[in-house]
Amino acid sequence: MDAKTLIKKYLDFFASKQHVVIPSASLVPENDPTVLFTTAGMHPLVPFLLGQPHPQGKRICDVQKCIRTTDIEEVGDDTHLTFFEMLGNWSLGDYFKKEAIEWSWDFLTSKECLGIPKERLAITCFAGDDDAPKDEEAAEVWRGLGVPEERIAFLPKEDNWWGPAGKTGPCGPDTEMFYYKKDNPPTKFDPEDENWVEIWNNVFMQFNKQEDGELKPLSKPSVDTGMGVERTIVALQGKLTVYDTELFQPILATIRELAEKQDHKAERIIADHIRTATFVLGEDTGVVPSNMDQGYILRRLIRRAVRYGRNLGIDQTFCHVVASVVIKEYKTRYPELLKNESRIVEELQREEKRFKETLEQGLKIFDKIATKDITGDQAFLLFQSHGFPLELTVELAKERGFNVDEKSYHEAFKKHQEASKGDKFASGLADHSEKTISLHTATHLLHAALRKIFGDEVQQKGSNITPERLRFDFSFPRKLTQEEKEQVEKQVNTWIQTGTDVTREEMPLADAKKAGAIAFFGEKYDEQKVSVFTIPGISKEVCTGPHVKNTKDVGTFKIKKEESISAGVRRIKATVN
Ligand code: ALA
Repeated sequence: MDAKTLIKKYLDFFASKQHVVIPSASLVPENDPTVLFTTAGMHPLVPFLLGQPHPQGKRICDVQKCIRTTDIEEVGDDTHLTFFEMLGNWSLGDYFKKEAIEWSWDFLTSKECLGIPKERLAITCFAGDDDAPKDEEAAEVWRGLGVPEERIAFLPKEDNWWGPAGKTGPCGPDTEMFYYKKDNPPTKFDPEDENWVEIWNNVFMQFNKQEDGELKPLSKPSVDTGMGVERTIVALQGKLTVYDTELFQPILATIRELAEKQDHKAERIIADHIRTATFVLGEDTGVVPSNMDQGYILRRLIRRAVRYGRNLGIDQTFCHVVASVVIKEYKTRYPELLKNESRIVEELQREEKRFKETLEQGLKIFDKIATKDITGDQAFLLFQSHGFPLELTVELAKERGFNVDEKSYHEAFKKHQEASKGDKFASGLADHSEKTISLHTATHLLHAALRKIFGDEVQQKGSNITPERLRFDFSFPRKLTQEEKEQVEKQVNTWIQTGTDVTREEMPLADAKKAGAIAFFGEKYDEQKVSVFTIPGISKEVCTGPHVKNTKDVGTFKIKKEESISAGVRRIKATVN
C-alpha cells in the first residue's frame, strides 16, 4: 500500500465515523513559543484538547506535517527522518477509550481498510505508577476484541505515556499498536524484538501538566492518536527502510544522477534534509536560513546536505534540483509548496552558495590550526564563524590523524544555544497570559495599520508571539522610514485608545471572506467554520485567538525593530506595555 492510499483510507474511515477532516496546520506553530516546529498531529490542537471548543466540532482527523530534529545525527540509518507525516483522529471531550480502540482495531484489520492479519498485531498499555493507575480499562477493550493476553504488554511511563509536547499541557497514558514485519510472528509479544514495529498510538488525554509538574485532571478527557505515515507504509510494504518506498525513490534517483560517487548514507541524508528544508521553506510563514530558532535548524539541514553533496562529488549547486523533485511529488497534497516554489528555490540556492563561500575560508583557517588536536573552542569558532558543522571538522581532523574535543565543543554549542533560545521554553503551551492575549490583538491592529498606510499589497507572511513580544512578517518591498514607523505606531495607539470592543463570531470561511475578513494561514476550505475577530471600523480577521475584550486592554504599542527577512518580506518586532 502506498502512502497516498493509506492516507485516503484513514481519512475516509474516520469521516465515516463522523470526524471532520481538517487540513494540516503549518509546520511552524503560529502562536506557540514553546517549540520551534510542529512535532505531532496533536500539537496545533492543544487549545482544543484543553477544552476550547473547536469550530469543526468534537471529532476531527487529519494528516499533519511534522518535524523532529533531535535525532538529526541518526539520519542516514534505516529509520530516522527529520520530516514525516502523521495521521490522527481526535475526540475533543467526546468518545474515549472504548470507541478509540475499537475503531483502531477495525481500521487495522478490516478488509476494506488495512486488512492486517490479526496474528501480526500486538499491543502495549500503561503499567501504572504513583501518578496514574495501570490501564486495565484499555487492556479490557483489547481483550474484548480477541487480542490474546500474550500479545498485550504493560510498560511504564517512558514507553506508554504521551505528552506534553512542551513543558506543560495535555498528557496521559497511551496504548500502542505494533506490527510484526517478518513472516511467522512469535506467539508471545516481546516489545524488545525489533521486528515488532510501532505503527499507531492512542493517547488518552486525562491530565494537564502544570509548570510545577502537577498533573491536573482535565474536566473532559480527550483522545489523541498518531500513526506515522512513513513508518506504517514501510511495514505494510515489507520494506527494510522508507528510502526503498515510493516516497523517496524519485528523490534518491535525482541525487544519484547528480553524484560522481556512490554513498548510500550521504544520499539518504541529502534526501531527508532537503525534503525537510523544502517543507519549511514552503510554509507561508517566511522562515529563511539564519542563526536563530527555526532558521537555525533550516540552515543546519541545508548545510549538512551540502557537505554530504561534497562527499558525493557533486560540484554544481544542487539543493534546489532535489527540492524540485520533492515539490513535484508532494504538490497535490501540499499546494503551498507550489505556491512558494520560487522562494524555496531561491533560498536554497542562496544558502548553498553562502555556505560554499565560507566553507572555503573555513578550510583555510582549518589548515592553519590543524597541526595538533582541535580544541572545542576552535571547532566552535569554525562552526560559528564559518558555518562548519562539527562532523566536517572531525572528519577533516581525522584525515590528518588528529582528534577534536567534541565534548567541549558541545558545551560551547549548548551555551550558545541557550543564550540564543533563552525565551523559547519560558512559558507553557497554549500560553494565554494577559500579555500574550494583548499581543494577539496588537498584531491585528498592526496588520490593519500597515494596510491602511501602505495599501492592501501588505500581506501577512508570518506571525509569532512570545510573552515578551510580537513578531509580524509582511510583504513590502523596502525598509520603512523612521517617520513611517512612527506613523504606524501612532495609528495602532490611536485605535487602542478608542476603547472599541473586540467581538468573535463563528462562520464558514466563505462567509467570513464575503464579510471582508482577511484570512492568510491554515484556513483552506471554504466550508470550514472559522472564528472571525472584528474590531469594528478597524479590523476583521480570521484567527483562532485569543483576544482582549476591548482595545483599551492592549496597553501601549511600541515597535522595537523593523528588518528584512527575505526579498520583499519585512519583519516587525513590537511590544505592548
Ligand atoms: N501524540 C501522539 C504521538 O505523537 C499520538 O504519538
